[in-house]
Amino acid sequence: MESRKIVEESEQFLATSTRELPLVLDRGEGVWLYDVDGNKYLDFTSGIGVNNLGWPSHPEVIRAAEAQMKKLAHSMGNDFYNVPQLELAKKLVQLTPGEFPKKVFFSNSGTEAVEASIKLIKQSDPKRKYLIAFIGSFHGRTFGSLSLTASRPVQKYLFGPTLPGVFHIPYPNPFRNPWHINGYEDPDSLINAVLEYLESWVFAHLVDPEEVAGIIFEPIQGEGGYVVPPKGFFSQLEKTARKYGIYLIDDEVQMGMGRTGKMFAIENFNSTPDVITLAKALGGGLYPIGATVFRKDLDFKKKGMHSNTFGGNAVACAIGVKTLEIVKELLPRVNELGKLFQEELTQMKVDDVRGLGLAWGIEFVRGERKEPDTKTRDKVIEESFKKGLLLLPAGKSAIRIIPPLVISEEEAKVGLSILKEVINSLR
Ligand SMILES: Cc1ncc(COP(=O)(O)O)c(C=O)c1O
Repeated sequence: MESRKIVEESEQFLATSTRELPLVLDRGEGVWLYDVDGNKYLDFTSGIGVNNLGWPSHPEVIRAAEAQMKKLAHSMGNDFYNVPQLELAKKLVQLTPGEFPKKVFFSNSGTEAVEASIKLIKQSDPKRKYLIAFIGSFHGRTFGSLSLTASRPVQKYLFGPTLPGVFHIPYPNPFRNPWHINGYEDPDSLINAVLEYLESWVFAHLVDPEEVAGIIFEPIQGEGGYVVPPKGFFSQLEKTARKYGIYLIDDEVQMGMGRTGKMFAIENFNSTPDVITLAKALGGGLYPIGATVFRKDLDFKKKGMHSNTFGGNAVACAIGVKTLEIVKELLPRVNELGKLFQEELTQMKVDDVRGLGLAWGIEFVRGERKEPDTKTRDKVIEESFKKGLLLLPAGKSAIRIIPPLVISEEEAKVGLSILKEVINSLR
C-alpha cells in the first residue's frame, strides 16, 4: 500500500488543489496508467486533454523530443531565434482557420495563452476596454484569465475583485437552457435568445459595443460540463461581433488538437476567430507549451509590450511540430471511434449525452427542472476508479469522457463496458 503512504504525506506537503482520487501515478503506456502499487487503469481523461497521443507520449514525439533535447532546450525564444519555434509557428498559422496573415506568441500554459490574447486585443485599440465572456466558461486561473472564467464559484472565491470590464453572458446550453423557461428548446431560439441578451441587455444597458475589444469563448465548454452549443451559434455570434468591430477569441486549450475530430474544435462550427489559444495537447504530454495564434494586424504595437522567459523553448516546439503531424493523421479514426462512443453512451442510463469526436459529456440530473445529481456523478467516477477506469468530472453533474486519440476500438469497448456496468449498478 505504497499509494496510501504517499497520499498521506503529499497532503502534508502539497497545497490544497483539485485532487479527488487517491491515485499515485508511476508510469503510463499508451492508454494505460499504472500506480505505484502496480494497479492498472484505463485512461478516459487524457490527462485533462493533454495526453491526446497517450502516455507518456507517441513514440515518434518522444524521438523528436530526445533528438532536440540533446541539442538545445531552453532557447530564449523571445530574445533569440530558433528553428523549431519558427517551424511550429508556420505550421500553426497554416493549420488554424482563417485565410489571413497570422502570427504566434509562445508561452507555457493555457492561462498564459489567454493572457496574451487579452493583451493583444486590448492594445490593438485602446478605446476598446471591455471584454465579453460566457457563464460556465473556464479560461485559466491567473488574474486576467480568471476574470473571464465563470465555471465554479470556488475558482474565484476570495480572490476578487478581478480584472474590471468583463461582462458574462449565458452560453447556449441545449440541455439546460440558461433561462430555465420553456420556449428555447430548438437551436435557433436558443441562439437568438443569447444574442438578444447580448444586444438588448448588455449592449443596450451596460456597455457600448464600440468599446468592447473582444468576445472570448470555448467552442465546447470544457470545465463547465462539456456543453456543445447549437451548430449555428458561432457563425451568428461572429456576425454580431463583426457588426461592431469586436474581435473573437477562440479558446481551444482543451478542445483543440484533434479532440473533436477536427484539428480545432471551431472547425465544426463554420466560424473564423481572430485569435486562437492553445496549450495542453500541443505539448504531446511531454512538455508544457502555450500558443496564441492571431491575425497579424493585431500584433503588439511596440517591442517589449509582451514577452516571457520560457516561450519558444526548442524542445517544446519540436514536440509541437511532431504532435500536429500525428494528430492530423489520427483525425479520421477519431471520427470513426466517435461514432462508437455516441452509440454506446446513448444506450446508457444517463440523462444527457453530448459530444463530438472523442470529446463526450454525460450528465446526471434529477426531476423536471434537471437539478444536478452531483452525488450520482461522483459515485460513478469513484466506482469506475475501483474497477480500473479513470474518469473526470465536468461542471456540476457531468462526466467528461476523453480517451487518448490513440485508443483502439477494443480498449474503448473495455472502458465503455465498465462505465455501463457501474451506471447500471447505481441507477
Ligand atoms: C479552455 C481552457 N482554457 C484555459 C485553460 C487553462 O490552462 P492551464 O491550466 O494550462 O493554465 C484550461 C485548463 O483546463 C482550459 O480548459
